[in-house]
Amino acid sequence: ATEQDLAGRHVVISAGGTREPLDPVRYLGNRSSGKQGYALARTAAARGARVTLVAGNTELPDPAGVEVIPIGTARQLREAVLKAAADADAVVMAAAVADFRPAVYTTGKIKKIEGQEPEPIALVRNPDILAEISAERAHPGQVVVGFAAETDEVLANGRAKLARKGCDLLVVNEVGEHKAFGSAENEAVILAADGTETPVPYGPKETLAETVWDLVAPRLAETRR
Ligand code: C5P
Repeated sequence: ATEQDLAGRHVVISAGGTREPLDPVRYLGNRSSGKQGYALARTAAARGARVTLVAGNTELPDPAGVEVIPIGTARQLREAVLKAAADADAVVMAAAVADFRPAVYTTGKIKKIEGQEPEPIALVRNPDILAEISAERAHPGQVVVGFAAETDEVLANGRAKLARKGCDLLVVNEVGEHKAFGSAENEAVILAADGTETPVPYGPKETLAETVWDLVAPRLAETRR
């Protein structure tokens, strides 16, 4: 039997990707499948946690015994995560949240006009939910975990991001063609704010998920159980 080291704990996990609408038929999106976040949800539930899974645009079945809150955009994800995080012991932001959204939502489908080039798409920044959750914890001792997909200078960028975002743990993985997105396997280094590094060799996303909980469990505040 799995050790019930998350029994009595509430964990909030974001998974999947956000879609930022441009008009009623088009959006800006990304290739996140949600598999890593769902693996985190399944493994946390197996270790005894109450799990809230804020899920964006995935095609995965709801994990048994997990509350799933479907969202579309980054702003919807923010609302859902902040609400659920109010009484959470840990928040794990595994979703690929769009950094930018179209500045303007056009209520009718954007038309192709004969002899005219299309208008450029202006973008604005989305709120950085991980940075916000880290800065304004619902209670002292709440553990916050981020994910970072990097294409180069993976560790250096990861360390800088951990400091900038202010989270406790940052799971850094290299992305590129055939790496991480959509696949059932992952490979990562988990950086901790206290300076420790935990490499997780290439393997199933469940293994990475279990390692995240192995690092989160001892960091949970004793007083809140
Ligand atoms: O800055 P970057 O997008 O690379 O950081 C990735 C981490 O930040 C992920 O954990 C992701 O869920 C989170 N994030 C967020 N809000 C954003 C963008 C990313 O919470 N607007």
